[in-house]
Amino acid sequence: MEKRGLLYEGKAKKIFATSEENVVWVQYKNSATAFNGEKKAEIEGKATLNNEISSFIFSKLREKGIQSHFIEKLSATEQLVRKVSIISLEVVTRNVIAGSLSKRLGIEEGTVLEEPIVELYYKDDDLGDPLITDEHVRVLKAASLEELAFLKKTALEINEFLKELFLSCGVKLIDFKLEFGKDETGSIMLADEISPDTCRLWDLDTNEKMDKDVFRRDLGSLTDAYKMILNRLRGESTHV
Ligand code: C5P
Repeated sequence: MEKRGLLYEGKAKKIFATSEENVVWVQYKNSATAFNGEKKAEIEGKATLNNEISSFIFSKLREKGIQSHFIEKLSATEQLVRKVSIISLEVVTRNVIAGSLSKRLGIEEGTVLEEPIVELYYKDDDLGDPLITDEHVRVLKAASLEELAFLKKTALEINEFLKELFLSCGVKLIDFKLEFGKDETGSIMLADEISPDTCRLWDLDTNEKMDKDVFRRDLGSLTDAYKMILNRLRGESTHV
């Protein structure tokens, strides 16, 4: 497989074409951004950590029969993935109230939800990725009713799997964001990444934050936090 020209550069990744039509080459970047790009930094080591963590999680999901665009990890910072056209929705699943939901509802961060909830955000930087309803999805033609049902069902299945995976290494999965894409046949699959950039992860015992909130809220070293997550997932470090 040969790497070809740059197709797209996002905030956290560059996507290159390859010699195969339906396969793209993903290069993770060291850039950290928050608040719709208002806060920015270059953090040495972040690309490697997110690539390692995301590859690990996508591989585990594949073992459980949940397919994603992920094909293989190529190097410390690169992955090969199936080419998909990204659906313009961010699918956020929450187990515990935090972040924007805490602000929106005026409920204290850390309040456990009786049941997980799924929210939809419209992927549009100019609009600031607004929270939208199912009806808005219809107006935007972002997904059909069946597709939307599939996205929500898959998000909840992934939530159950990830909750257990993280719990087994002493980490609480507070919330996370998923993106989905369509391949050349129109088939929908999980895409983008699953990493501490896209999840809230708290230590089971101390509630210490081990995710991008460390950067958003200036709580310490982002790479130390992400390294801790990677080590725990690999079973190289425990919470006790
Ligand atoms: O900010 P908010 O509380 O809505 O974020 C919910 C979850 O979605 C968090 O885990 C956050 O990291 C993730 N998220 C993301 N990308 C966005 C917005 C939120 O990964 N653009």
